[in-house]
Amino acid sequence: MQIIERIDPLRRALEEPRRSGKGIALVPTMGALHEGHLALIDRAHERAQTVVMSLFVNPLQFGPNEDFARYPRDRDGDARLAASRGADILFVPQPDELYRAGRTVSVVPGALATRWDGASRPGHFTGVLTVVAKLFNIVQPDVAVFGQKDIQQATLIHAMVRDLDFPIRMIVAPIVREHDGVALSSRNAYLSAPDRKHARVLSRAIFAMREAFDGGETSAAALERLGGAVVAAEPEVTLEYLAVMHAETLEPAPAAAAGSIVAIAARVGTTRLIDNIILGAPDPAG
Ligand code: PAJ
Repeated sequence: MQIIERIDPLRRALEEPRRSGKGIALVPTMGALHEGHLALIDRAHERAQTVVMSLFVNPLQFGPNEDFARYPRDRDGDARLAASRGADILFVPQPDELYRAGRTVSVVPGALATRWDGASRPGHFTGVLTVVAKLFNIVQPDVAVFGQKDIQQATLIHAMVRDLDFPIRMIVAPIVREHDGVALSSRNAYLSAPDRKHARVLSRAIFAMREAFDGGETSAAALERLGGAVVAAEPEVTLEYLAVMHAETLEPAPAAAAGSIVAIAARVGTTRLIDNIILGAPDPAG
C-alpha cells in the first residue's frame, strides 16, 4: 500500500489504474480505523480493482465546542490496518493543501441538513459535503463507499452526487456492531467502562422498536414511545432524538413501513453517539 500526502502524486499514482479501466473506489474516513471502516474496503474491492482510502480529520465538520482537538488519531496503526485489509493507496491529505488560505466556497446542503444531527451540529453537514466533494474531485473515483452508520450523512452525500452530477456510483454498507449490539464508532474510545455498558441502550431501543414493528406495530408514535421507555430506563443516557423516518427523505414518518429508518442520537456521559436500523431488513449483528 502506498501512503500519499499530496494531490499531484496521488493523481499520478491513479493514472495507470484509470487507464486500465478496472475501476477506482474511494473510501473516505477520519481514521481511528475499526472493523466498520475496514468492511468498507471489502465492499470497495467488490466494485473496483484499486481502492483509495482517505484519512483526514476534517476541521470544517467540527463545531467550536466539539472534539476536533481530541479526536483519536493513530496514523501508523491506521496504515497497518488499511494495508492488511487490502487498500491500495492511503491518501492522507495535508490541511495546508486541502484548505488553502483564502478559500471561500463550500457545498451547502438543503433543509435536511438542519434536522436530526444537523440540529445539534450546525454547519456540520456543510463541512462534510465540502470535504467529500473535494475528495471526489481529487480522486475522481468510479465508486465511493460510505457506511449506513451515518445515515443522514449518506443521504446528503447521495443528494449531492445527484444534484451536482458527480459521475460516481455510491454504495452504502451495513452497520458493523460489537457482539453486544453497540455500533462500532471511533468515538466509543471516549467511553469509560461503565459508559460503554450504558451505550448498549441505543441499539437496545432501536432493536426493541424493530421487534414491535415485526410483531405488527406500525404507529410511529407507539414505536417511539416504546423505544423512549427503553432509553429512559438508563438514566446516564440523555436522548437527543429517536424517530421513525422516511427511507429516502429522512422526514419523520407517521407510520412505519418496510424500509423505514429508525434512528437515534443520545449522549452517554459527554459522548454523543448515533445508531439506526432499517425496518424490515435483516441486520447481520442485530
Ligand atoms: P468516519 O466517522 O471516520 O467514518 C468513515 C466511514 O465509515 C463513514 O462512511 C461511516 O459511515 C463509516 N462507518 C463508521 N462506523 C461504521 C460502522 N460501525 N459500520 C459501518 N460503517 C461505519 O464519516 C466520516 O468519517 C466523515 O464524515 C467523512 C465522510 C470521512 C468526511 O470527513
